[in-house]
Amino acid sequence: MSSDADADLSDRVNNRSHRPSSTAFRDFVASGWDRTPLTNVAPLPAAAWTPARRAAVSRRFPGERVVVPAGPLKVRSNDTDYRFRAHSAFIHLTGLETESEPDALLVFEPDTAAGAPESEGHSVTLWFRPRAGADTEEFFSDARYGEYWVGPRDDLDTMSVRTGIRTADSSTAVDAITKDLGSVSVRVVRGADQSVEQAIDAARAQVGADQDASLAGDDELAEFLSELRLIKDDHEVGQLRRAIEITRAGFDRAVASLQDAVAHPRGERVIETSFESAARLDGYGVGYDTIAAAGDHACTLHWIRNDGTVRRGDLVLLDAGAEADSLYTADITRTLPVDGVFTPVQGRIYDAVLEAADAAFATAASHVHGPVRFRDVHAAAMEVIAQRLHDFGLLPVSVEESLSDAGQQHRRWMVHGTSHHLGLDVHDCAQARRDMYLDGLLEPGMVFTIEPGLYFKAADRLVPEEFRGIGIRIEDDVLVTEDGVENLSAGFPRTRAEVEAWTQRLAPGRAH
Ligand code: GLY
Ligand code: MN
Ligand code: MN
Repeated sequence: MSSDADADLSDRVNNRSHRPSSTAFRDFVASGWDRTPLTNVAPLPAAAWTPARRAAVSRRFPGERVVVPAGPLKVRSNDTDYRFRAHSAFIHLTGLETESEPDALLVFEPDTAAGAPESEGHSVTLWFRPRAGADTEEFFSDARYGEYWVGPRDDLDTMSVRTGIRTADSSTAVDAITKDLGSVSVRVVRGADQSVEQAIDAARAQVGADQDASLAGDDELAEFLSELRLIKDDHEVGQLRRAIEITRAGFDRAVASLQDAVAHPRGERVIETSFESAARLDGYGVGYDTIAAAGDHACTLHWIRNDGTVRRGDLVLLDAGAEADSLYTADITRTLPVDGVFTPVQGRIYDAVLEAADAAFATAASHVHGPVRFRDVHAAAMEVIAQRLHDFGLLPVSVEESLSDAGQQHRRWMVHGTSHHLGLDVHDCAQARRDMYLDGLLEPGMVFTIEPGLYFKAADRLVPEEFRGIGIRIEDDVLVTEDGVENLSAGFPRTRAEVEAWTQRLAPGRAH
């Protein structure tokens, strides 16, 4: 049984240090703060680019309300939250960066005021929780939102200056998005904020809206917002370049750590943390969990435990991407010889993967001569992979049979795809329709990865012993241009000789 002195379960934070509640304390803590309005507030770097994105949404859904939630803070445990990251559709349409803005909603309201349509027929409002006065309880006692705890927050004006969007206090946002559903239909981005979805679902039910049709409408919105990001504007390409530049510096740090990695029982962590220090110092962090995989671990495609030993003679597969402050991420893989030289068998496999990557690049670049579908890039890489596996004596069938839909035996050694779109999400545009993604034509402004690999697990009885425990991937980030493609990660050593020279220069001291 609990004693009288116990707080409610929800307030057990007082277990750690009892928070004073005397009137004297409250009066004193609320007084004497310099609360001059925030100054030097400038438009966000993306603010010049987001109006066109919002206008596209407005054109696509005339006369309808569209709700794009940022999403709430997510509890890690008790009163400790994960670092906040807003839903990517919200970031794309507002231009907000880093930790902005939990619980916010971007709402497109059909503009019925005759003669005053704005933004293609909607008024757009960013509903969020503005900074509270220093005399409020929130300021000093709210560990999730109070400025005493989390640092400066925007007020309605500064948020408006930064985003270029009209703002409103989110305390009345739910009413605004659920009102009048008898006369206006609403679509919401699902998967970002459950409480917003529940409020909308309840309001829809109240007016007798067809649940299945409503959900299908929401799916259409998700598809559209995903497809809106298939072609990057110049600002986005600039941010991807920035993310790749930070990633390049991170790879140098990681390569330079190879000898320390050999000396540490969890050498993979040495490599991981070396990369991530650059990502965090120069960017916002990593765009996905780093894969630092030595030896056979490289054959585990999502090896993110990174707790293995790094041995001389091993290859280390490092798949890592820094996320810029704008939240655009790079996605790069290089496979590094710890000793600064590839063994002959490692070299043969490396060159096969590189050849597959080059074939994929060539196919992507050929869009200037005629239509190229996204899936063709993968097919080009697979032709090389199947051919080289045949040359290694591993394919149980002919190259042609393996490449046929009824075959595909070569995929045993590369089960993942060759490419995915890249942007705010590492696997960007994931809700796009197949016609627009896999079967879509390459167009200038698209950014995607080219990342073939070959993985011969130590437990693979179908390959010669000398192949076992070797996993190699080479991953670059590619921009489709008017005259072909640009390898945005061209600044990374890529050929076998370049990679050897890189490791020898930055991690000297091995036996090569
Ligand atoms: N790092 C995840 C990927 O390459 O797709
Ligand atoms: Mn990757
Ligand atoms: Mn990738």
